[in-house]
Amino acid sequence: MIEILEADITTLAVDAIVNAANSSLLGGGGVDGAIHRAAGSELLAACRGLGPCPTGEAIRTAGFRLPARFVIHAVGPVWRGGREGEPERLASAYARAFTRALEEPSIRSVAFPAISTGVYGYPRDAACEIALAQMWAHQPRFERIVACVFSREDGALYSETLNRLRAQEGG
Ligand code: APR
Repeated sequence: MIEILEADITTLAVDAIVNAANSSLLGGGGVDGAIHRAAGSELLAACRGLGPCPTGEAIRTAGFRLPARFVIHAVGPVWRGGREGEPERLASAYARAFTRALEEPSIRSVAFPAISTGVYGYPRDAACEIALAQMWAHQPRFERIVACVFSREDGALYSETLNRLRAQEGG
């Protein structure tokens, strides 16, 4: 089942939360900074030596002080106008995050932020279509998939897009 929640992803008691990371995996601002602050310094220590993580790829670590037992660090593309493979790379970041989640059988619920739509400048509506298409494709494999949005506008955008997807897919 896909849920849309307007929340701080670091507070969600799901099995795994996805981080919108950069390839160094050594933290940053935005949701990356929030996750590292909430998880504590052990997360940075666990990430040290795991990078660089290519754009469109993802790696899994423990969640340490987070309610979530795991963090899946996914690296989305920087938006450069849309003609440099950004859509494929964003889809890959979601797909590979799901792959990392499926590799750990105890992960039955996973929450995603809107990868690449902050610092990386990806247009929110186009990113939302890609995110929900990946969530829709993977939903039979999980009990809960949460699209964790951080604004009322994104909440409305995700709800409207998900309703359209359900109508198209008859789901
Ligand atoms: N919970 C949920 N969503 C959040 C949170 C939070 N605590 N904080 C920010 N967001 C949202 C933003 O509003 C945006 O919609 O996460 C989305 C992704 O924005 P960014 O965190 O800026 O990530 P991104 O655009 O993928 O850029 C990644 O930013 O922080 C650095 O190290 C990171 O270099 C990397 C780059």
